[in-house]
Amino acid sequence: MIILGVNETSHDASVSLIKDGEILFAAHAERYSKVKNDWYNNNDIYKDAMQYGTPDVIAYYEKPLWKKTRLIFGGASDWKPRTLPDIPVKYFTHHKSHAAAGYYTSKFNDAVIVVLDAIGEWNTSTIWIGEGNNIKPVKKFDYPFSFGLFYSAFTKLLDLKPNEEEYIMMGMAAYGNPDRYFEQVNSYFPSIKKQKYNFHKGIYDFDWGIIPCMVGEIGTPYVKEWFDQRKFDLAAAVQKVYENRLIEFMQYAKSITGKTNLVFMGGCALNCSANTKLWDIFNNIWIMPNPGDAGSSLGAAAALYGLHINWKNPYLGTEIPGPWPRNEVLQELKKNKIAVVASGRAEYGPRALGNRSILADPRDPNIKDKVNEIKQREKFRPFAPIVLEHFANEWFDMPTRSTPYMQYAIRCKYPDRIPSVVHADGTSRVQTVNEYDHPELHMLLRQWYWETGVPVLLNTSLNIKGQPLLNDQNDIIEWQNRYNTKIYGGNNVL
Ligand SMILES: [Fe+2]
Repeated sequence: MIILGVNETSHDASVSLIKDGEILFAAHAERYSKVKNDWYNNNDIYKDAMQYGTPDVIAYYEKPLWKKTRLIFGGASDWKPRTLPDIPVKYFTHHKSHAAAGYYTSKFNDAVIVVLDAIGEWNTSTIWIGEGNNIKPVKKFDYPFSFGLFYSAFTKLLDLKPNEEEYIMMGMAAYGNPDRYFEQVNSYFPSIKKQKYNFHKGIYDFDWGIIPCMVGEIGTPYVKEWFDQRKFDLAAAVQKVYENRLIEFMQYAKSITGKTNLVFMGGCALNCSANTKLWDIFNNIWIMPNPGDAGSSLGAAAALYGLHINWKNPYLGTEIPGPWPRNEVLQELKKNKIAVVASGRAEYGPRALGNRSILADPRDPNIKDKVNEIKQREKFRPFAPIVLEHFANEWFDMPTRSTPYMQYAIRCKYPDRIPSVVHADGTSRVQTVNEYDHPELHMLLRQWYWETGVPVLLNTSLNIKGQPLLNDQNDIIEWQNRYNTKIYGGNNVL
């Protein structure tokens, strides 16, 4: 049976196709429409998916009636799910789709599953048990208690886009002093111990960034100057409060389930600084590399399948055919220190992991400015390293052997040797690479190591700030014409 998973009418629409436990296709609508965080799927993504098979059934990532009650509550009732005609549809709750995306792609047969996001239909924070092929809910918390809304509200307060630019605030936190605003921010997200698990009694009196105490301190909630230290101090306080609450919640989830394997899903699982701290609580952790709503098309399909699916790697989207251009990239790196590559199937998830990437020499401290210039983004933002898995422990304080999806901020042991991939707090968002995950990227890193003695490269996504990652061959041509930057891959490597 072929199952088409669909997620849309919220941010980050996506489509997935699975057959007998194999993932045939999974991709984001925004890469086709070029509308960042596109709410809707489009003909092009469906056409791409259908190359791999015709679906017998659609699995939809939310329960429409339940969601509608919340939208009516919020004053927006004109809503209905969109799918495809003439194909039967099965519906799953928002958080079950998250939980299924995580558990059924994991290697675990026994785990606690924690889902934390802004809001599903009504659920915001859920705890599940996964045993064998079954997942069952253990505890559910509803709006207004919400890790995601807490974080997004402050994201908006900093004049960033909620549901999209939380990662920028997380990056800003490294430059701030958390103590300056800690007490104020903390008062908006009290300890669950103080609340005695009664989350429904008005923990928040803010909604989407209306936070009176900050107005008094800053003057206006929307400070326009980027390098106002108060913004960085506020970001640091938010990150610290978030981490404190997250650790408490995870300890609670562990205590009520007795599980030592964690599956963590929902948009909050993208906070790589906080994620690292969870290794102190659990023995093993799996975060599916697309833990936000965009991963829920796969989650709904997995929920319908009801068995573990065969997760190999995140290269599941549009194909740019041809060999991965390893030799060209190596020569370009040696000559100009930066190489741009678009080849193979696009990554499913927010991170470019080698198939839609800008790679650069991490030893050069000035390379950051050059890459930022290409990407037209803020200068303080950190870049991530890719490292040979074999050497990862030598260069970073790894909490585990491999971190192939850039999900953890990890202390770098030699920041002076690779300054362009180390953040202000001394950490790096590490992507380990082995010969199974991506043989060509692995070989490139080996060759780079033989040449330089450094098994690390800078890797950042091939996009302009605020735009989706490049998707197909046409995007390559358009980018080259517009920005006069050579991209290796597709027709450029024949
Ligand atoms: Fe969600």
